[in-house]
Amino acid sequence: MMFSSASRTLVLALLTLGASASRGGTPTVSYNVSAAETYLPNKDYSNEQLALLWYQVGPVATHPVVTATVEPTPEPSWAGPGEFHPFVASNYPEELAVAKLPPGFNWGMTSSAYQLEGAAKDEGRGPSIWDLLSHRNPNQVADNSTGDVLAQHYYLYKQDFQRLAKYGSPYYSTSISWPRIFPFGKGPINEAGIKHYDDVIAELVKHGIKPALSLFHWDTPLALFNEYGGWTNPKIVDDYLNYAKFVIARYDKHVPVWFTFNEPQYCNWQYSYYPAGILYPSYGIGPGINARFICGHYTLLAHAKLAKWYHNEFKGKGRISFKNSGNYYQPVTNSTGDLEAAKRATDFSIGWFGGPWTDGDYPQSLKDTLGEILPTLSKAEKALIKGSCDFYALDGYTAFYVSELPGGANACARNRSDPNYPECGSSSQVAPNGFSIGPAADAGASWLKSTPTGIRKFLSAITKEIFPAVKDIVVSEFGFAEPFESEYASVPDAIWDLRRTDYIQGFLDNILLAITEDHVNVTGAYIWSIMDNFEWGSGIKTRFGMQYVSYDTLTRTPKASWFQARNWFKRHGGEFLPGAE
Ligand code: BGC
Repeated sequence: MMFSSASRTLVLALLTLGASASRGGTPTVSYNVSAAETYLPNKDYSNEQLALLWYQVGPVATHPVVTATVEPTPEPSWAGPGEFHPFVASNYPEELAVAKLPPGFNWGMTSSAYQLEGAAKDEGRGPSIWDLLSHRNPNQVADNSTGDVLAQHYYLYKQDFQRLAKYGSPYYSTSISWPRIFPFGKGPINEAGIKHYDDVIAELVKHGIKPALSLFHWDTPLALFNEYGGWTNPKIVDDYLNYAKFVIARYDKHVPVWFTFNEPQYCNWQYSYYPAGILYPSYGIGPGINARFICGHYTLLAHAKLAKWYHNEFKGKGRISFKNSGNYYQPVTNSTGDLEAAKRATDFSIGWFGGPWTDGDYPQSLKDTLGEILPTLSKAEKALIKGSCDFYALDGYTAFYVSELPGGANACARNRSDPNYPECGSSSQVAPNGFSIGPAADAGASWLKSTPTGIRKFLSAITKEIFPAVKDIVVSEFGFAEPFESEYASVPDAIWDLRRTDYIQGFLDNILLAITEDHVNVTGAYIWSIMDNFEWGSGIKTRFGMQYVSYDTLTRTPKASWFQARNWFKRHGGEFLPGAE
């Protein structure tokens, strides 16, 4: 089922609103707001554009108690676990016992706006496509949760940052919600949204926590999707630039690290598979392989334009890059076919967006396989892309074995109806010995196995073989969803997250080995995530947090992994804030 008939009527009515037919018969929705108009959060917009957008989403839940910013209360002392069960030991005691991180190593926790903020409809925020998807797509979120309320970080950030300060991590990586600032994606600005982020940044600065800010973590303003199909339309580039420049100009003096995009590879799943009719109006490019590569194309161009503007015109103070979703692909044997299959898998994931480190163009394997599906980059665009990242940012969670298809890659690459097209390789997380490649995460993250040695190999491979131009690499996300964590009846049981603790220890050990033994210049590591949050297709039952969130009381409780990570950074010379406990 896609839609109830009532909601279908509603969406069609909305799409017809202000619609006009273009020459190609493609209706466009124009929102009647002028760029000069200031959006007033207290003005009654019922029956106007914003209310209509929210009507399209449907009823939005609010928290019964927490509806305004809460002042922090004193933090409890943390003893951490360990009397009857030790922390997880390192597998590399001899090599690593005395190894130290390089000075200035960036580390901290992470989150993103839609996954943590809650307060979805409050203070003038416009909906993003994720509000619509979580509310209207019955197949979207396994546990039927939404981002409406979650941990209400939007109102509890002062408490959350006070706790981070006590923890002592010097950085915090999160994202800004585009539709909180521009409820329609462009046009009028929401003053309440700006005031909120002014306060958020000021609060971080007050504690000495450095923000690493993503400008986009998948929450495309719904109005822009309604109007022209989001990232399938070149118009999005200017709208994104307008928003992103506004944010950078306002906060740059406090933000040493900017991420233009969180994982442009998201185009793969966001633009390939969604059911037409919910996100995709009956016009524009529907979901599928064309949309996937067009989305990637405009994302890469938007990134490059912003990064070049940031350094050349704006003269920004910080560093700018985008975060790559990248998993380590290991050929299952050393046969030529398996090696080539692993190379193709890498080309189609991080190679696709590797232009900043090469000649600015897409890999040859993508061009050969995709033909006219892959947009062409002009000479000027390639020049723009090349050199547009100050460092490589890798969100590297796990690893896969890759093998050649029985018929070889070439036959598949010529046959667009081959089920393995266009990657044309076979990947698996089962080792030849019958074991999974590593211990499995929660079933809601079935793609995730704990593979700490994979991150070490991957860091070397990226900097020495895949993109030798990379001189500085940051692991901008890694993290784990403890299996069955939501099944425990008691919080004290749930917070002994042994498998996540082992993952964190193993990943950090291997990142350090990449630095000390393999001489890779890894300059940062950020753990996903500061606390439990909304895990896209799985919802809130799949938990990635280093703190447990009780969704009824909104209480956050540090898990064993929170202490394991802190102990690790203390042991290996990580920098801590002066007020750290
Ligand atoms: C994304 C996060 C997501 C995490 C775990 C990362 O790739 O940036 O938004 O929650 O993976 O799936």
